[in-house]
Amino acid sequence: MEISTTLSETRVDDARLAEILEDPGFGVHFTDHMFTVEWTPEQGWHDARITPYGPLTLDPATAVLHYAQETFEGMKAYRHADGSVHLFRPEANAERMVRSSQRLALPELPVEDFIGAVEALVKVDERWVPDNAGEKSLYLRPFMFASERFLGVRPSQHVTFMVIASPAGSYFKGGLKPVSLWLTEEYTRAARGGMGAAKTGGNYASSLVAQQEASQHGCDQVVFLDAQEGRYVEELGGMNMYFVFRDGSIVTPAIEGTILEGITRSSIIELARGMGHDVTERRFEIDEWRRGVESGEIVEIFACGTAAVVSPVGELRSAAGTTAAPASTELTMRIRQALVDVQFGRADDTYGWMRRVV
Ligand code: PLP
Ligand code: COI
Repeated sequence: MEISTTLSETRVDDARLAEILEDPGFGVHFTDHMFTVEWTPEQGWHDARITPYGPLTLDPATAVLHYAQETFEGMKAYRHADGSVHLFRPEANAERMVRSSQRLALPELPVEDFIGAVEALVKVDERWVPDNAGEKSLYLRPFMFASERFLGVRPSQHVTFMVIASPAGSYFKGGLKPVSLWLTEEYTRAARGGMGAAKTGGNYASSLVAQQEASQHGCDQVVFLDAQEGRYVEELGGMNMYFVFRDGSIVTPAIEGTILEGITRSSIIELARGMGHDVTERRFEIDEWRRGVESGEIVEIFACGTAAVVSPVGELRSAAGTTAAPASTELTMRIRQALVDVQFGRADDTYGWMRRVV
């Protein structure tokens, strides 16, 4: 993929950038440039370019605005102590976007072009990658959408793939403390044959009302059950889940097509196994959660994802009552540390997960 570059003439100045990187928040500041490439059936992927960051002009009949034919990814660039900049398992994001795009009837962007696009943007906006104090990073948001001007319901014949970047601190306001969860029994996230395994905007749109319900009940996040029986724990709105037992064994809900195959999830399975823990992927009943915490059989629960990293789970609230926070966060914090140490280059990259960009 040939990428043309037009540099911005109005880059954020160094003083303002330093101020932003001091306290970037999440998803509020964007870098000086963006990446775009277009697709049509006749031309395939073409016109790859880096241009100054700015608004898009879309025809009101642009298909994505009506039918939500869209996929996206979330990944981060990390600065190591020697100043170099690295991506974490970018091929896994690229491969997941291919799978998401297949589900949404969007064209496949080859893995090497996805990585090439992300790397090109990170290189041109390298100064936006924060130093690693406080575990800040540059969040990258590749996304693909139906950009044809047409109101018929069929796969778009014009598709746009873009990458934007945003410096990121802690995803949760207030930093790292156990998140309280609301169990929604009214709403589900994904059904058999649906889009649950795809990273597509519609899944997040459908989670918002449940998240609102969670907030009304004073909870930070919402936990979804399977749509068929309302019995098995699936995931949070933007994170996968783990349950740690007293004997050190760990359970995480199995991938059966309705939950997102998290890259943090699979990395943690490998890290925990490497630390000597038995990790099982299986169905996990909501009642097992309640009983397990009450009896002390379950000692820790945590959730993970790119944006939120690894976060201990606290109380579970539902119409049926409250289950207390598990007793400990000790292993959660050790796993979190092991993961961020690899990402920030403080531990050996024994799994070959990091890819140097700068
Ligand atoms: N589940 C959902 C619904 C998500 O949005 C995310 C975030 O990306 C995850 C799980 C975790 O996935 P990953 O670890 O690849 O970021
Ligand atoms: C991520 O962790 O990258 C996510 O996409 C979760 C959320 C910000 C949508």
